[in-house]
Amino acid sequence: MLDKRTQLIHHARANTVAALQDMQRWGVEALHFNSHTPEALPLCSSLDPVTAATTACRTETLEDIRADMGECQRCALGRTRTQLVFGGGNPKASLVFVGEGPGQREDEQGEPFVGEAGLLLNRILFAMGLERKDVYICNVIKCRPPQNRNPEADEIAACEPFLKRQLDAINPEVLVALGKFAAQTLLQDKTPISKLRGEWRSYNDIDLMPTFHPAYLLRNPVHKRELWQDMKQVMQRLQR
Ligand code: URA
Ligand code: URA
Repeated sequence: MLDKRTQLIHHARANTVAALQDMQRWGVEALHFNSHTPEALPLCSSLDPVTAATTACRTETLEDIRADMGECQRCALGRTRTQLVFGGGNPKASLVFVGEGPGQREDEQGEPFVGEAGLLLNRILFAMGLERKDVYICNVIKCRPPQNRNPEADEIAACEPFLKRQLDAINPEVLVALGKFAAQTLLQDKTPISKLRGEWRSYNDIDLMPTFHPAYLLRNPVHKRELWQDMKQVMQRLQR
């Protein structure tokens, strides 16, 4: 037995086939899709699954998601931040880094990882033979917590849907979760980062490598060796 949703999709397809056959009888030989204005198509995510299966629609872009966030006030951090830090880099990146949240420099500049931790991340990328423009970098929460305190559960909950949509839009081959908050949020797993790191996991069918946060490594440089082991695994997986 087909479930209800599958039946509905079959039904919608049959209707589409019937409509196309009818047009053929009028003498329609080709359909002219407006492919030069794809932004005019409705967003697939705005349609119900049955309609989306049979309608020309487009998946959302990072710009759509940024526009949807707007001057976000979905959690209390909206009142204390200078500016929202959405993320940056290559929207088609095969490798995405997810950090925790903006610090002071990021809050001032509107870009992720531009402070001390960002300089270490740049060196890590350099050692991997990559540049910032090759990868995409974002955070679990998009607004700086006062005094850089840890994000609260309700702040993560308000922001996480946007992270998920960013990762859907980019659809990278590999994700690196930098530190405890990124790893625990993406994996929904409260295991300490020292136990999670170095082992491949999966996030919505994307390979995910949890590793230490660069800010933690600045305070505990002896663990840089472990980060580098994790990045070597990432490089191997990207080369496959
Ligand atoms: N730390 C983070 O987690 N993210 C940034 O963007 C900067 C520092
Ligand atoms: N705590 C974190 O939040 N991240 C680390 O990488 C290590 C400890």
